[in-house]
Amino acid sequence: MFPTTRTLAAAAMVGVLLAPTAALAETPSSTTEENLHTALTIEAFDWARYTVYAEQADREDDGSASALFTDTAAEDRYDHLAALAIPAGLVGGNAQNLQAAIDGEVYEATVMYPEFAATARAEGCTQAASMFRSIAAEEKMHAKKYTVALSAITRGRGSIPRATGLQYITVTPQLPACGGQTQTNLVTAMHGEALATVKYQLFAEVALNSGNAALADLFAGTATVEFREHFSDEANLSGLMWDTETNLTDAAASEDVEATVTYPAFAQQATEAEDFDVASLFEELAVAEGLQRDAFLLLAER
Ligand SMILES: [Fe+2]
Ligand SMILES: [Fe+2]
Ligand SMILES: [Fe+2]
Repeated sequence: MFPTTRTLAAAAMVGVLLAPTAALAETPSSTTEENLHTALTIEAFDWARYTVYAEQADREDDGSASALFTDTAAEDRYDHLAALAIPAGLVGGNAQNLQAAIDGEVYEATVMYPEFAATARAEGCTQAASMFRSIAAEEKMHAKKYTVALSAITRGRGSIPRATGLQYITVTPQLPACGGQTQTNLVTAMHGEALATVKYQLFAEVALNSGNAALADLFAGTATVEFREHFSDEANLSGLMWDTETNLTDAAASEDVEATVTYPAFAQQATEAEDFDVASLFEELAVAEGLQRDAFLLLAER
């Protein structure tokens, strides 16, 4: 489903993101909107996996690979994703952010993960089936906490709950545990978890800037669970990571797809829909991903 630069200061990014209505003056076409969402998901996924690839490079005492993965992750997160978030209208006020979070959690808890669990069971991958079931239960809990928080800030009833506890999972080199549709579903799930992570981090910044530290803690704590528990558990079962040399080659290959296929196609479609500002953003991203590919290749060939 998903094909597999300079860092902006986080503070500057929040300043831009806090004015989401400015972007609504020109509503993009539905195709552009869909492509913006896919692009956000790709950038979030790249941020998440390069972050854990950097940790693997550290374990191998490979300082240059660790630095490249860390810098590229930051560029995808604070430059590319931040730029896409504005026309995508990703971030709003606290109440709007909570509602978006609830919708996402309810979908994962009641539709996506139960379906993925049933498929894994049918395919005989019991490990994935039980993991999907337990993540579904946690997403249900997240939806509940966000619903309580929404009622606290809109009706003044009750208080903001604390985030659920974290069971930290390290991503390590592993062979894929399942094949078939379950392997595809693991990749889809990781993209969803990565996007949820980044969204909640951005929502936490909005909450903090509005003076609501308890809501900021709930979003930030939940973001950590999505990344360090859900994404990481799925990454291990899917065999996302291998050694640093392989990780560099894989990273170069996926950046090449983004540079030569995904973003050029999105730019073309945005131009056809007369979403010219978004079209030039996609064109700029195609160039930036090409530079990331070249940097990964250079290191992979040392
Ligand atoms: Fe969640
Ligand atoms: Fe999750
Ligand atoms: Fe990238």
